[in-house]
Amino acid sequence: MQRPVFAANWKMHNGPSDARAFLRSFLTHNARRTDRQVIFFPPAISVTTVREMIRERTDILLGVQNIHWEDKGAFTGELSAGMARDAGATVALVGHSERRHVFGERDEETGKKVKAAVRAGLSPMLCVGETLAEREQGRTEEVVLRQLRAGTAEIEPSQMVGMLVAYEPVWAIGTGKTATPGDASVIHAVIRAELAGMVGERAKGIPICYGGSVNRGTAASLLEAGDVDGLLVGGASLDSEGWSSIVRT
Ligand code: 13P
Repeated sequence: MQRPVFAANWKMHNGPSDARAFLRSFLTHNARRTDRQVIFFPPAISVTTVREMIRERTDILLGVQNIHWEDKGAFTGELSAGMARDAGATVALVGHSERRHVFGERDEETGKKVKAAVRAGLSPMLCVGETLAEREQGRTEEVVLRQLRAGTAEIEPSQMVGMLVAYEPVWAIGTGKTATPGDASVIHAVIRAELAGMVGERAKGIPICYGGSVNRGTAASLLEAGDVDGLLVGGASLDSEGWSSIVRT
């Protein structure tokens, strides 16, 4: 198995001052490691600060939480993939459930954003996941596969190597309800099989992370589940000490 991914999605937390304080503590207590991949997704306003803080820590990657699909233009409040790259990010979340369900982002837009990320030299981390209603209707696989296909529709199979996928069931995000390792493993295997249909053996090299109320108590068992290659963590990544203990799982 590839080294596990530990990704912190700070959402709308940790402006530049808080980000600096967080990283000062995190970097002091977490020496460089080559057996895991840590990624921070700070809010856009803190990207430069995080870049400066992690400067020589090439073992840590920096990402943005969202990008626009155009390279530039009259899109007030938006951020292009090229700008994110210029600021030092190398990864971009695309289609996070809050983008989809709070801000109305559609499947078609995720496809364009993944393409824009690849065009700018960023690794897209495509987020997929069903709502509680969809789960109760037995539509989990259908929804996840639809989101996966739409999110990768605009890129070539060869460009998919280098991307990441995050399975984040919407009902588990910020609710304290975590999918069981077994549940996560089933859906991750479905995602892996779909990826294999697109890129063959190379699908094994596309990390599939689980997200949704992960905490230090659940991280280890989720990581042990089949086809779970990493974790995408929201709330439990906001406290430097707690996040450090998850990264040391
Ligand atoms: P929580 O870990 O707070 O449930 O958030 C998960 C998430 O959305 C990470 O992207």
